[in-house]
Amino acid sequence: MSHYVVTGGAGFIGSAITRKLLAEGAGRVVVIDNLLSGSESNLEEIRSRIDFQRADIRNYEEIAPLIRDAAVVFHEAAIPSVPRSIDDPVPSHDVNANGTFNVLRAAKEGNVGRVVYAASSSAYGDTEVLPKVEDMTPRPKSPYALQKLLGEYYCNVFTGVYGLETVALRYFNVYGPRQDPSSPYSGVLSLFMTAALNRTAPKIFGDGEQSRDFTYVEDVAELNLKAARAKGVAGKVYNAGNGGRITLNQSWALLQKLEGIDIPAIYGPPRAGDVRDSQADTTLAVAELGHAPRYSFEEGMRLTLKWYRKAYPPKSA
Ligand code: UD1
Repeated sequence: MSHYVVTGGAGFIGSAITRKLLAEGAGRVVVIDNLLSGSESNLEEIRSRIDFQRADIRNYEEIAPLIRDAAVVFHEAAIPSVPRSIDDPVPSHDVNANGTFNVLRAAKEGNVGRVVYAASSSAYGDTEVLPKVEDMTPRPKSPYALQKLLGEYYCNVFTGVYGLETVALRYFNVYGPRQDPSSPYSGVLSLFMTAALNRTAPKIFGDGEQSRDFTYVEDVAELNLKAARAKGVAGKVYNAGNGGRITLNQSWALLQKLEGIDIPAIYGPPRAGDVRDSQADTTLAVAELGHAPRYSFEEGMRLTLKWYRKAYPPKSA
């Protein structure tokens, strides 16, 4: 029986895809994760229903047998941070560039039906026009953005040269339950969440007027499943965003409102490699994949806050 594989399936986004696959009746789901940034606790309630394999995408021999004959591979394993790729580019390149090559090679050698790849909107860099459309010339500004773009190009080349079906989804700042807030490299909303709950001031790099198309994790997981099923999409790239644009100042203001607090953020210098504004044009994903994001920013933030309150109880409580 052919199976599904989720690389990085113990991570924040990968575990959401895994959960959705099971909810939609998938028979066998193999989760590949080295637990470097993922955690088995993200899979707690579904642990007995999946085949968890602690393996590293940097090691071809380790992952090839797990990937062989899969119906679909969702490739989420990555070191996801822009600043981390600047501070420490070697591991970031090894995982995001070489690891992705290994996954594609294993998929091609193992006659996999399709690879759905977690690409990144950071590939657009500071292209002037908003919203970002898939056919714009990419302008990566950081090693991370470049590595993710390389993966996209590799997907396209594996489709063209070897006939491996691939679809790349450019994620736009995914947030939601299970995003790890414990590192300075963590996604900004996860850091804002824990700051709000602990009644501390968040740090904002720059004036806080930079904007992002924050996308709720459930909408991204749903789109992954749609990309796995869609016809006539091999070798293509799609924006996986909400289509909106929210500044950091607006995000912190909303969290303060939801928590009933009044704590000014601490502003510092802008971060190296940062993109100023990011917003997805979702036309293509809607038309060709049936993308239909369901969560407004406020609704997503409420659900996320509820989860953090339980998972990361305020330190004073
Ligand atoms: C994020 C993702 C990346 C993804 C990309 C596009 C994370 C960690 N990174 O990059 O994987 O490919 O979106 O979807 O999720 N900031 C602060 N204070 C903080 C932390 C960050 O002001 O404490 C600012 C940053 O300078 C930046 C913005 O918040 O302007 C967003 O930063 P971050 O959450 O790290 O995401 P991106 O760099 O946009």
